[in-house]
Amino acid sequence: MSSKFPQFVTNRLVIRMAVARDAELLRQYYLRNQSHLAPWEPTRSDAYYTLRWWLLRIDQIHTEFNDASAINFIAMTPDQSEIVAVANFSNIIQGVFKSCYLGYSISKEYEGQGLMVEFLQCALDFMYTNVGLNRVMANYIPENERSGALLQRLGFEREGYARKYLKIAGCWQDHVLTALLQEDWLYRTARG
Ligand SMILES: CC(C)(COP(=O)(O)OP(=O)(O)OC[C@H]1O[C@@H](n2cnc3c(N)ncnc32)[C@H](O)[C@@H]1OP(=O)(O)O)[C@@H](O)C(=O)NCCC(=O)NCCS
Repeated sequence: MSSKFPQFVTNRLVIRMAVARDAELLRQYYLRNQSHLAPWEPTRSDAYYTLRWWLLRIDQIHTEFNDASAINFIAMTPDQSEIVAVANFSNIIQGVFKSCYLGYSISKEYEGQGLMVEFLQCALDFMYTNVGLNRVMANYIPENERSGALLQRLGFEREGYARKYLKIAGCWQDHVLTALLQEDWLYRTARG
């Protein structure tokens, strides 16, 4: 793996960016979680579940990293044989904005074990400390209680409510808008 990509080891996870050899693992992650993710993600085409799609997507992920417009992380089991979760920091804008959006999911069998908190604490720390973002925004469908609980646990604060915000599972869906500021993150992490 190229050393220019960020990578971390936490208590239970290896966190890094995907490289070409991970394409099959990503394909398997989305294939085995199809029904788990369907209510919370855009409708996927059949092509989404092919190896070719993921090889092309990984190329695109590297291009986005190189032009500093997105950073997509995978969290893996310690032996790196399986993808546990994904977190995508997209639409990164620097200048006077220094902000981005965050999207994430965890494999059904690893849900509810605090692994997502462990993963996002590490990834967010990188985004605030190394990338220097001022704000990370994350939005969720009101019925997605797990996502709301996760964001609250991490310190995200509700900023608003957007009607028909994203086309998820084939329908325009309202979303709760939340964000976490760098200064609040640094304060929380300093307190431990
Ligand atoms: C949203 C998602 C990533 C949350 O992952 P998770 O495994 O529950 O996260 P964690 O185990 O790290 O727990 C996060 C918090 O949720 C809480 N939680 C667990 N089960 C819950 C439940 N059934 N309802 C509400 N909150 C719950 C936990 O208590 C934990 O808070 P705590 O640490 O303060 O106790 C996961 O449910 C998922 O992948 N869902 C499908 C995809 C998705 O919705 N993506 C987000 C779109 S906005």
